[in-house]
Amino acid sequence: MIWLVGQNGMLGTELCEGLTARGLPWVGSSRDVDVGDASRLEVFAAKLSKPPTWIVNCSAYTFVDKAEDEVEACTRLNVNGAENLARLADRLGAALLHVSTDYVFDGRGVAGPKATLRPYVETDHVGPQGVYGRTKAEGEARITAHCARHIIFRTAWLYGAAGPNFVFTMLRLMKTKQALGVVADQFGSPTWTRDLASVMAEVLAQPAPEANHPTWGVYHVSGEGQSTWFEFASAILKGGQAEGLLDPAKPLTLNPLTTDQYPTKAKRPAWSVLSKEKLKQNFGLEMPPWKASLNKFLQEIHSKGMLIP
Ligand SMILES: NC(=O)c1ccc[n+]([C@@H]2O[C@H](COP(=O)([O-])OP(=O)(O)OC[C@H]3O[C@@H](n4cnc5c(N)ncnc54)[C@H](OP(=O)(O)O)[C@@H]3O)[C@@H](O)[C@H]2O)c1
Repeated sequence: MIWLVGQNGMLGTELCEGLTARGLPWVGSSRDVDVGDASRLEVFAAKLSKPPTWIVNCSAYTFVDKAEDEVEACTRLNVNGAENLARLADRLGAALLHVSTDYVFDGRGVAGPKATLRPYVETDHVGPQGVYGRTKAEGEARITAHCARHIIFRTAWLYGAAGPNFVFTMLRLMKTKQALGVVADQFGSPTWTRDLASVMAEVLAQPAPEANHPTWGVYHVSGEGQSTWFEFASAILKGGQAEGLLDPAKPLTLNPLTTDQYPTKAKRPAWSVLSKEKLKQNFGLEMPPWKASLNKFLQEIHSKGMLIP
């Protein structure tokens, strides 16, 4: 039995569908089973018909800019919540699958061959720049300290049907604006919740090994390839027009911006491309190229007649 915490979030919603499609038995909880309250979690666990084999944490405080002013609320979920779930999983003999972020990195990158930056690997030094990233990094540390059988999936630039997210924002703005400025000097990898949920479900479907097995630990799981927000927006425009979500005859100019021209309360990493080699090696799993996934997502919005929120 899998216990999915945060079942109604953007990723949680997708994972519910992925687990059901694979016939994996699961039970879900949302904010009414507050991860910041250890006793509330205990009570929920005690009511389950049998102890969970996995606890999956899709809950989080995810408002990156608001977090700069709401340190306590953000810490409560991303640090205390993660620790509470780790301690409980350990006590119940369950394994913990937790989701973290590229924002744990400082974004300066690490030099690769030919003076380029290489994708971050899991052992690279973390150096978060804002409250959200700091709490997520601390959450990872608490999990590592309190639950031996844990997997942490660091993902990035997430979008999916249960939004809100960058794709929906862009589609909405592209319908009405004549010109849009988008940041072109931050590099990362767009990730469809479907692809991440699919990798999570694959891992959850495999028998969980004993503690001290080399499989446990941190993994990077984002869309394959790299992009800037500007390239991402350009692909949304092209794909949106091809799918009939946007009118190709409507004039729209996309303008590349520097980070300085688009200031945000919380600093974003300039480089957060993640290497998926470890995921490939240890689980034999790969993420699809980000652009192919984006086009599938846009196709699905169109074919299901989804309203853009
Ligand atoms: N979004 C991104 O671009 C992105 C990028 C990298 C990493 N991530 C990570 O990916 C994971 C999933 O993100 P997401 O975008 O799917 O998040 P999300 O849509 O904001 O969902 C967060 C979930 O947390 C639940 N929650 C809030 N307060 C809670 C509480 N006190 N106790 C229990 N649950 C609570 C919410 O419940 P309700 O539904 O009841 O409100 C919601 O289901 C997070 O760990 C996030 O840090 C996200």
